Amino acid sequence: MEILRIPKIMQETSKRHIQKGKTIGFVPTMGALHNGHLSLFKRAREENDIVVASIFVNPTQFGPNEDFDKYPRDIEGDIEKLRTINVDIVFLPETKAMYPDNFLTFLYVEKLSEKLCGAFRPGHFKGVATVVNKLINIIKPHKIYFGQKDYQQCLIIRKMIEDLNIDTEMIICPTIREKDGLAMSSRNAYLKEKERVASALIYKTLVAVSDLIKSNKHPLPKIKEQMLNMLKEEPLFSEIQYASIYDTETLEELTELKKNNLVAIAVKIGDARLIDNIIIEIN
Ligand code: PAJ
Repeated sequence: MEILRIPKIMQETSKRHIQKGKTIGFVPTMGALHNGHLSLFKRAREENDIVVASIFVNPTQFGPNEDFDKYPRDIEGDIEKLRTINVDIVFLPETKAMYPDNFLTFLYVEKLSEKLCGAFRPGHFKGVATVVNKLINIIKPHKIYFGQKDYQQCLIIRKMIEDLNIDTEMIICPTIREKDGLAMSSRNAYLKEKERVASALIYKTLVAVSDLIKSNKHPLPKIKEQMLNMLKEEPLFSEIQYASIYDTETLEELTELKKNNLVAIAVKIGDARLIDNIIIEIN
């Protein structure tokens, strides 16, 4: 497994592989890898000649009062995990290599970046779109892999790829969960024991809402009300940022159910902000 830190060298390496006719699969991450991340690498391993991982805690997607400094970092552990799945190249750039002092260019996907998490994390998706675009230009992947866990991120990157004619295929992989349903996340490391137990209510609520929708017996406003009430039962949730049912393409909150419905939640608990979602298809 090769570890590369310099963007230009990564770019040259990718070019060489492409010239030899190899396909490149790429999984961008911020490290502190868990089985959710690893599922993306496994999928990429099945579908490509060369698998590239990036580990970069991207400063431009964190707000001034967010957790950039304390975001979990475990490069040694990550590298070991990537070795076990036979990842070929780990791209590990320094912050200054990605954002030199004279850096001026940002990329913003309108509308979609303002909804849901965007309303609570101004500038977040601008940082995400910018860094993913840079990483695609450096790594030149045939396929790029993302997790449905960050559904809004997936929509924004998909739009960016479409609008800017970026020559890569995006693959969205299912959310990997703990036994009690909690979506795996690097930020789960922030949870104290009681908070960790309480956090299972997020997925439990998503499943309950899914059952209510599928039963076809309840009007949408009632379902939304019940959804909020379930989450409000948990005193450790210090803030319910959003919890509702949204259009899967525009992220507008729905007033009536559609064929595909995004049920999404963001809550604060202890030092963590947790998000999760499921998509419910009805006939
Ligand atoms: P990070 O949070 O490290 O996540 C990297 C990728 O792993 C994302 O595509 C995310 O959706 C996916 N992922 C995280 N938890 C998952 C789970 N439980 N099941 C399946 N996939 C999961 O998302 C980012 O980093 C950054 O914003 C990034 C795209 C790297 C840009 O900086």
